[in-house]
Amino acid sequence: MPTPRLPDPLPDVILAPLTKGGNLPFRRLCVEFGASITMSEMAYARQVVRGSRTERALLRKHASETCFGVQIAASKPEDAVAAGKIAVENGARFVDLNCGCPIHDVVRRGMGATLLQRPAALQRIVAAMVTGLGVPVTVKLRSGWKEDEINAPEIARLCEDAGAAAITLHARTREQRYTKSADWGLVKRLVEERGIPVVGNGDVLTWHEARDRRAESGCASVMLGRGVLIKPWLFKELVEKKTWLPTAQERVEVYARFVAHCREHFGADEKGKKKASFFLPWHFGFFCRWRPMPEAMFEERAKSYPLMQTRVDTDGELPPLERILRDPREDVHRSIAGIFWEASDAAAACAALESLAEATPAPIDGEAGEIAVAHG
Ligand SMILES: Cc1cc2nc3c(=O)[nH]c(=O)nc-3n(C[C@H](O)[C@H](O)[C@H](O)COP(=O)(O)O)c2cc1C
Repeated sequence: MPTPRLPDPLPDVILAPLTKGGNLPFRRLCVEFGASITMSEMAYARQVVRGSRTERALLRKHASETCFGVQIAASKPEDAVAAGKIAVENGARFVDLNCGCPIHDVVRRGMGATLLQRPAALQRIVAAMVTGLGVPVTVKLRSGWKEDEINAPEIARLCEDAGAAAITLHARTREQRYTKSADWGLVKRLVEERGIPVVGNGDVLTWHEARDRRAESGCASVMLGRGVLIKPWLFKELVEKKTWLPTAQERVEVYARFVAHCREHFGADEKGKKKASFFLPWHFGFFCRWRPMPEAMFEERAKSYPLMQTRVDTDGELPPLERILRDPREDVHRSIAGIFWEASDAAAACAALESLAEATPAPIDGEAGEIAVAHG
């Protein structure tokens, strides 16, 4: 059998691995909007090998995902290889090693961003995966541990030498989390130095930012994270090369489709509802951040500062449906999720959301539900 390869060339954009967000129904929605490479949420290699049901569930793909990669977190070559094999048996076309997750629980166990500080161990893991898996192995890095320890160029070289098929750089350090804009200059440097495809990642919210970051850096592809969580139709904008400014009703149709995928995946009964209720309110915490950003107003501005880093709200008084969809409060997200779950179709959801809006006082300034963003 020929050795599987990554698509060559890579598509313009790739869906990022997103813990909690990159669940199967959400990825299915992204494929419908044009995503051609999708990735699993990060799975702990050791737990996968031990047969943990929750961890194994992360390896499942939807039939529509034609190039699906599984991302694993590992600190040892044997775990990475054993988990990678299980992922491949489950249909993964490639396996990605997480080398950027900043959360304490992951780094203290020698995984994620810690590997940036253990280059020799990282190289051994990648080499073992390349030899043992028979599918392309990719690595997702951050820039370094902290600003005075930027070592992604060195790490990328080690990964290439170990046989990695591609590298993604989320161009921020472990310590920066999301506080600073991603450093696309560093993506450019990796592109210049490496022979394998480099995927750039960080702060892309619009199709024109994807186009510009790719042109500036020369990267093979752009990976999209929060932009897609806010607007899953970002892939459509990229295919059509124009911003889509959906009405509130059109957004409700998209969210209703997502909920229908959840119902199909988790089950329409009480058990399925309970499972979906773990994800849905959380997703509405991202959907509520959408703002209309016509490119005539924002394209120039986005060249110097990423739109993701700006909170724009220029619309003044909003109609009830629009207001409730943008409400930042967690309790409102729970109510919205409940409405979508019960609604028979998008029209029924709109009517129920309007009633919810009438019954819900507008949030007072600063009353915003914050979403914990841990990984990456
Ligand atoms: C909710 C959430 C979950 C994430 N989970 C993962 C993950 O499991 N693995 C990973 O490598 N990165 C993860 N990341 C990081 C993203 O893949 C991406 O690198 C980061 O968000 C930067 O891209 P963006 O600016 O387009 O969001 C996560 C990010 C978010 C917001």
